[in-house]
Amino acid sequence: MYRAPRGTADILPEEQPYWRYIEREMVNVCQLYGYERIDVPVFEDIQLFTRSVGEETDIVKKEMYTFEDRGGNIITLRPEGTAPVCRAYLEHGLHNLPQPVKLYYIAAIFRYERPQAGRYRQHYQFGCEAIGDDDPALDAEVIDMAWKFFMSFGLRGLSLNLNSIGCKQCRPQYLTALKDYYADRIQELCSDCKMRLKRNPLRLLDCKKLLCQQIANSAPRSVDHLCPQCNEHFDRLKRYLDLLALPCVIDHCLVRGLDYYTRTVFEIQPEEAGAQSTLGGGGRYDDLIEELGGKPTPAIGFATGIERIIVNLKKQGVAVPALPRPQVFIAYVGDEAKDEATKLSSTLRRNGIGVIEALGSKSLKAQLRQANTLSAHHAVIIGEQEVKTGTVILRDMTTAQQKTIPLNQLPGLLR
Ligand code: HAM
Repeated sequence: MYRAPRGTADILPEEQPYWRYIEREMVNVCQLYGYERIDVPVFEDIQLFTRSVGEETDIVKKEMYTFEDRGGNIITLRPEGTAPVCRAYLEHGLHNLPQPVKLYYIAAIFRYERPQAGRYRQHYQFGCEAIGDDDPALDAEVIDMAWKFFMSFGLRGLSLNLNSIGCKQCRPQYLTALKDYYADRIQELCSDCKMRLKRNPLRLLDCKKLLCQQIANSAPRSVDHLCPQCNEHFDRLKRYLDLLALPCVIDHCLVRGLDYYTRTVFEIQPEEAGAQSTLGGGGRYDDLIEELGGKPTPAIGFATGIERIIVNLKKQGVAVPALPRPQVFIAYVGDEAKDEATKLSSTLRRNGIGVIEALGSKSLKAQLRQANTLSAHHAVIIGEQEVKTGTVILRDMTTAQQKTIPLNQLPGLLR
């Protein structure tokens, strides 16, 4: 027996109501905030990700699905959506449009991680990117959009964490302060953090090991090392967030796992927070477009994992609307009646009425049992007598009441 590859999941029909419901909310929220949909390829040149996400990140070092294609190109299945959207922004000259350009995507994302609850090797992200403006009001708007999106499901107990990690002007001084602090504590750090101290010191702050977290809690804070411009940006952002009454908590250890971030970073956590539970996150990436070959272009975005939203909807018992399905079942007795049933199914569908037609030569009782199992509202029964008289029997499946009606009245009646 073949099985789905480790860390992937089939989304069976019974799960689809969750997916469609979430998708509908995404489209709603995107319309409200002026985002338009973009679809980018599933794979890109490897360098797009190594340059943007960062050589020293877990994603690039350990998690990318990379292979050489038959033409000798080194290809990577997208491990995130921001870099491909920026690539498309540059490739198609979207900087010529009024800025910021606001784009959203719903995309399969691939990361070779150790699978566990809420962590997959193929997962789906809803992401949005606002490219071309550095106004902190845009940061507040993106955070507001993310928050309102989660609130639209009625999810309770979420927290909204915020930090500013500065820019290329002020970050180096902060990193020096951080390294000095950690240099005295190197013996207490886990082996991963010892590496991080050398290669990616900012990531020391979000180690999930208890002792490392305790050390991180007393570490120098990025907000105390911001240059005047970043400081002003952060102050104004906090003021806008206050105006919007968003319940933000400043988390000095929040740094995010991708290297392109500058200034604002934020995450949304469910009540029972843990390493694999972050519902969504994002931030500014003011240098990324330039890094990819464009002019300096500030930008901010956000993404959330759809599987994680579903985990939380289920945990909190949030009911999602059922998907529409055919309400009419057509049963028949005899070959002539079967011909009529086939024609009638087609007529009803042409009239916009969903139909499931019986198949084979089961007894009428068995056919009605099937209609029941499918939760059809009505069964239409055609027998020898009905064929002769140009009528059908319409059965209400809830009350079991039946009446004979002329065939040509059926579409109107069912509608
Ligand atoms: P990220 O935090 O790596 O950010 O991923 C965004 C969200 O995707 C996470 O908060 C989580 O809900 C979900 N996620 C990540 N990895 C997995 C996984 N293995 N299985 C299931 N869900 C997962 C980014 O990818 C950035 N591109 C977000 C962004 C957009 N920043 C600016 N614009």
